[in-house]
Amino acid sequence: MTGGTGGAADRAVICGIGYRVPDRIVTNAELCARLDTSEDWIVARTGISRRRWVEPGEATSDLAVRAGRAALKSAGGGQIDAVVLATTTPDQRCPATAPEVASRLGLGGVAALDVSAVCTGFLYGLATAAGFIAAGLAERVLMIAAEAFSTLLDPDDRTTLPIFGDGAGAVVLRRGRADEPGAVGPLVLGSDGDRSELITVKAGGARQPFPGPIPDDGSQYFKMRGREVFRQSVERMSAAGTEALSLAGWQLGDVDRVVTHQANARVSAALAERLGLRRDVMAQNIADVGNTAAASIPVLLAQATADGSVEAGHRLLLVAFGGGLTWGATTLTWPHLELHDA
Ligand code: UT7
Repeated sequence: MTGGTGGAADRAVICGIGYRVPDRIVTNAELCARLDTSEDWIVARTGISRRRWVEPGEATSDLAVRAGRAALKSAGGGQIDAVVLATTTPDQRCPATAPEVASRLGLGGVAALDVSAVCTGFLYGLATAAGFIAAGLAERVLMIAAEAFSTLLDPDDRTTLPIFGDGAGAVVLRRGRADEPGAVGPLVLGSDGDRSELITVKAGGARQPFPGPIPDDGSQYFKMRGREVFRQSVERMSAAGTEALSLAGWQLGDVDRVVTHQANARVSAALAERLGLRRDVMAQNIADVGNTAAASIPVLLAQATADGSVEAGHRLLLVAFGGGLTWGATTLTWPHLELHDA
């Protein structure tokens, strides 16, 4: 699916950003003490040196509220008409987590819903929020992507445990014009349910409910067929990215930074090579936070804004890929934004 996000005067424009990562830092050395792996393997095969994990009792909503509050401050306050929360790890199966987040932010009463698209969650959430604005349902939307992904991981699985981290990133979107900095460009979104088996948490849903006996096959945990996912990831992100550029009327040479879902430093390098882009065009924070799934792009956008590697006026290509399978891409010119502590 491809499309604009409304007429020229109905664009969703980013006007605030914030992020929050948990305080707890988990180093590669800590993981090596309990898994059959090595610091060299993790750094060489993923580019990850450390990640942040929630403490027991800390949940997705806690991260989402902190990131959301920082984004609201960054936007200078003002009315919010809807809250969209992209997450793979809602606080519970029912109800959605967004209404609680809205209430805790003092926004109770507004439309609030969760979006589930695993690592593509931010771009699907952006499309949902932009759709609210284009349809005249909202003037300003708070869109948060938050994950307590460590709560899905098998503590004995060396193929997933080192990769994922927890975090939340949020943006405020307002109605504006297509030619303004911050205007979300044409969006490319896709899925391939024939390959859903590549990334799963099988137990705990309607097909394999529990409580009941705790599964002894590990099906309550996140599973990923890494090598095949790697291949799909590079292929789908390069195709979606190329299509988003074409819809925006941009050439590759127009792109100042690619802000890609941080799955693996080698995925980013392979994507740069496939697109014919220099490596230094690829914004990166995976070494310090790991793969934070849906939260990956907005956390990276906020951190890169803070350290100056993404600046106002930079032309950005955003690209993501995740379970489902799902993928997405869009373009925008980065606006000037204030940053506030979460
Ligand atoms: O976020 C959604 C999108 N996600 C992605 O795009 C992730 C893409 N995939 C990946 O990032 C990589 O495939 C992984 C990091 C998950 C795995 O790296 P890889 O280079 O593809 O390794 P592999 O799965 O091909 O495994 C190579 C070897 C295997 O051993 P054998 O069968 O060759 O003896 C694994 O058992 O590495 C072994 N291995 C490990 N060894 C030490 C797997 N994990 C580890 C580990 N430490 N932590």
